[in-house]
Amino acid sequence: MCGIVGYTGKQPAAPILLEGLSKLEYRGYDSAGLAVRSGDALAEVVKATGKLKNLIEMTDGGKTLPGLCGIGHTRWATHGEPSRANAHPHVSGNATGSGSGPVESDVVGVHNGIIENYEELRQKLLHNGYRFYSGTDTEVVIKLVDYYYKKYKIGPIDAINRMMVRVRGSYALALMFKDYPGELYCARKDSPLIIGVADGETFLASDVPAILKYTREVYYIDNLQSARLCPGEAHFFDLNGDEVAVPLTTITWNAEAAEKGGYEHFMIKEIHEQPRAVKDTLNSIIKDGRIDLSASGMTTDLLQSVKNLCIVACGSAWHVGMAAQYVIEDLCGLPVRVELASEFRYRKPVLGENSLVVVISQSGETADSLAALREAKSAGIPTLAVINVVGSTIAREADHVLYTLAGPEIAVATTKAYSAQLVMLYALAVELAETHGKLDEESYRFYQDALLKLPEQMERALENKERIQWFAAKHANARDIFFIGRGLDYAICLEGSLKMKEISYIHSEAYAAGELKHGTISLIENGTLVIGVLTQKALIEKTVSNMAECKARGAYLMGLTGYGNYNVEETANFTVYVPNTDPHFYGSVAIIPLQLLAYYTSVSKGLDVDKPRNLAKSVTVE
Ligand code: G6P
Repeated sequence: MCGIVGYTGKQPAAPILLEGLSKLEYRGYDSAGLAVRSGDALAEVVKATGKLKNLIEMTDGGKTLPGLCGIGHTRWATHGEPSRANAHPHVSGNATGSGSGPVESDVVGVHNGIIENYEELRQKLLHNGYRFYSGTDTEVVIKLVDYYYKKYKIGPIDAINRMMVRVRGSYALALMFKDYPGELYCARKDSPLIIGVADGETFLASDVPAILKYTREVYYIDNLQSARLCPGEAHFFDLNGDEVAVPLTTITWNAEAAEKGGYEHFMIKEIHEQPRAVKDTLNSIIKDGRIDLSASGMTTDLLQSVKNLCIVACGSAWHVGMAAQYVIEDLCGLPVRVELASEFRYRKPVLGENSLVVVISQSGETADSLAALREAKSAGIPTLAVINVVGSTIAREADHVLYTLAGPEIAVATTKAYSAQLVMLYALAVELAETHGKLDEESYRFYQDALLKLPEQMERALENKERIQWFAAKHANARDIFFIGRGLDYAICLEGSLKMKEISYIHSEAYAAGELKHGTISLIENGTLVIGVLTQKALIEKTVSNMAECKARGAYLMGLTGYGNYNVEETANFTVYVPNTDPHFYGSVAIIPLQLLAYYTSVSKGLDVDKPRNLAKSVTVE
């Protein structure tokens, strides 16, 4: 979703802001803009619709905007269509027709999030003489700050605080005040915002990659806090306007991790980084030969007390939950529910005593997952979050956190974060099984060894690339693709199908193979591609029969199975093999050919692989 950046320091701000915005492109956007000011001069605003390169061209890479202090924004439309007038930055005064040029306004700002009561606030401001040039909630919130700033003749922090008390919704806001040259002001509630400091320079951004080139020293500003940023300094304030101490944290990700490193796209780079992401994640929780989740603060007593689990997540993280459900139920004998966060938050979920709610999220900022976490917490149920982004909101609010070590993931379609989440959930399953007395020492060692072998097996699964590339090119014009499987294979299908549809724009569906004949089989026509996932030995024959039923109706079949299951070739037209692993953990190897298939299909079609249309990496609104 929207990305915000800010800079105040000793270098020209605009090129740094544009570069920061390019690092946030993955979040999804439809327009972009900058506001830069030179000393006491008025801020100059430039906005462009479409790709960031339009803004880069308009400003000659930022050269037309001199000044050492500024803010920037990539907008993903929520209120108001994508247009230049609706693009940020927004101003407290009346903007010119195009929205670009020097602005007389006292307050200029950018915003990520949604102001829920913006209509009521707009009416209030109209009543007080304000006029609106855009359809955005952001313009309302900036004018509200301006209103308090003038009405009470107070400083920026007090004006921001009054605004925070008055608005409902989520926001990360970065503002410049005409009377305070060289300073940036910011505030946040439920939308991501980090502040980085270096010698004589201060940065703000929605996400780490935007500032990683300049500094690794960051502050995570808390909910309902505001900050005043001057070159090389950041001061934080609570809602009363009192200064508060926020700890400085060092980011361990390196800058190269957020670059393409010779690959054509981030997605293919991240696909290749999976063995490393899985290895790093496992190494962080397997110590002295045993799984150790104590860094999360979960005690053996807590794990022993768990009688059922509810896994809540969105998108691919939900698919991790679907796979984990099979693994945990099978290894631990504990009931597991898997809920879409967007549904969970509006239900009255009946969670018994001794439940554990597990929220899985790469970004740690997904609005629905955060709301679900809060729902669980308010019901007094212990919560565990499995998160990739350190310091993110969900990580901070959950009772317990397990961090995946996938590093920065830039491509919108997740791959390495998914794989890291999967192994973290496997480890949780093994640990729970052990604490519940379901595993003897030999079985415990067996599963732990099986986990440790996964990175190498994933590496081997990546070797199949060329064949899959050829197959993808051949089927790039498919209209529909069906992914079918049973049990854990169905969970793998869900993720394979999502990868395919989100980046290739081919309609695809994941179906539990046994359900096909209850309706979906009527969609099979001559040449329809059906992909059968066949890793679970006990279920292979049954799924192969379902594939045969499709073939009899004209389908073209791809089979995905473990080495040695040659009989699949008798039915499938094209078979892909992956290294064998323990049946519980097949998802980790079997997903790789499906990710590659989606990737090469998208490449064959010449699509924007890393930034598919209409999608955002981090969905911070409902
Ligand atoms: C978006 C991303 C998906 C991701 C989902 C949940 O839709 O495109 O890749 O799985 O959000 O995100 P989270 O950050 O909570 O894992």
